[in-house]
Amino acid sequence: MPRDFIKSFRGWTISESNVGVAFIGAGIVAEMHGRAVAANPNAKLVGIYDPKTARAKAVARKFGGKVFGSFEEALDHPKVNAIHVLTPPERHREVALKSLRAGKHVLVEKPVAWRAADIKKLQAAATNANRICMPAHNYIYNPALRRAKRLIDEGKLGRISSLWVLHNIYHSEDVASRYGGVLRAVCVHHAYSLLYLLGGPLRLTATASCIHYQRLTCEDQAMIVCQMANGAIANLWCSFAAKDLTSDPWTVVYKVLGTDGGVTCSWNEAQFEDNRGPGWGLPCYEESFRHEIDHFINRCVLGGEQPLSTLGEALDALRIIEAAERSCRGRGGMETVDYKH
Ligand SMILES: NC(=O)c1ccc[n+]([C@@H]2O[C@H](COP(=O)([O-])OP(=O)(O)OC[C@H]3O[C@@H](n4cnc5c(N)ncnc54)[C@H](O)[C@@H]3O)[C@@H](O)[C@H]2O)c1
Repeated sequence: MPRDFIKSFRGWTISESNVGVAFIGAGIVAEMHGRAVAANPNAKLVGIYDPKTARAKAVARKFGGKVFGSFEEALDHPKVNAIHVLTPPERHREVALKSLRAGKHVLVEKPVAWRAADIKKLQAAATNANRICMPAHNYIYNPALRRAKRLIDEGKLGRISSLWVLHNIYHSEDVASRYGGVLRAVCVHHAYSLLYLLGGPLRLTATASCIHYQRLTCEDQAMIVCQMANGAIANLWCSFAAKDLTSDPWTVVYKVLGTDGGVTCSWNEAQFEDNRGPGWGLPCYEESFRHEIDHFINRCVLGGEQPLSTLGEALDALRIIEAAERSCRGRGGMETVDYKH
C-alpha cells in the first residue's frame, strides 16, 4: 500500500498515509490492539480515551498517540477514522453507536453486547451510516483456523464428525472479576468459532461450575455439547479455574475430525515467558489480533470489503450462549438454539 495515498471511500476521505485509530478503553486488551496497530503500516494510533487517565497515558507512552480528555474529543478529532471499542461489554453499545453516528468505522470487542436488541441497533446504525462495524472475533483470524476452515470447505476431511474447542487459561479472581462468568465472557469465542467452522448447532446441552473463585459467584468453567444438522457433535470447553500443566497441555486447542481426516490447532505451538498480562506469552493469541486488525484496516476500512466476522454472527453466537444458559438453569436439559433475529 503506498504510504502517501489519498483514498476516497464511500464519500469519505482518508488523507495522508494512515487510517487514524482511537482506542476507547485502555485496559488489558488495549495491549494486544496496541501491538497490532503498531505492526500495521497503514494504521496509526491517534489517541486513547479512558476515564482512568493513568491507563490511557500508559498506552500512549507505549504505543504513541495522545490522551483524549473525553470520548467526544476522540470523535471530533479530524484524523480519527476508526474507533476500537475496548470498554467493558456494558458500554459497547453506547460507544459503538455514537462512533458510527459520527461517521467512524468501528471494531468492537467481544462480546459485542449482552442483548440481541443492542446488536440489532448496531446493525441498523452501521447500515445507515454506511460504515463497517466489525465484531472483534479474533480467534477466527488465526491462520491455523483459516486453514481448518479451508480444508472443511474443500471437503478434504470428508464428513465432519466432531469439533473440540478446549480452552484452559487460568485467571486470578482479580482478573476474572473484570469479565464475569466464562459462559458469556469466553464461550462467545467458542460459539463464533463453531459458527465459522461448521455453522449453527440445532440443539445443545450445557453444564457449568465454580471451582476456584472465593468471592465471585459466577461459573469459572463450563461445557457445551452441540448437535449439528449433519449429526456432528461439537464439544466446547472453557475454564479459568486451572492451568493444564501436564506434558501435553490444553491451553487453547481446536480439533476438527472428519471421516477422511482431521485438523489440530494449538496455541502451545509457541510460548515464551511474559506474565505481565493474560496470554501475553502466547504468540498464537497475539497473532489472532494482528490478523484481525490487519483485516479490519486493510481489507474493510481501506478495501471496502465486508468483514469476515459480522454482527449477524455476533447475534447467532449470543443465541448459542443464551441456549447454554437455559440448559444450565434446567440442569443440563437439551435446548433448541433459537436463531430468530
Ligand atoms: N478478544 C479477546 O481475546 C479479549 C481479551 C480480553 C478482553 N476482551 C474484551 O475487551 C473488552 C475490555 O476488556 P479488558 O480486559 O481490557 O478490560 P479492563 O477492565 O482491563 O479495561 C476496560 C477499560 O475500559 C475503561 N472504560 C470503562 N468505561 C469506559 C468508557 N465509557 N469510555 C472509555 N473507557 C471506559 C475502564 O476504565 C478500563 O480501563 C471487554 O469487552 C472484554 O471482553 C477481549
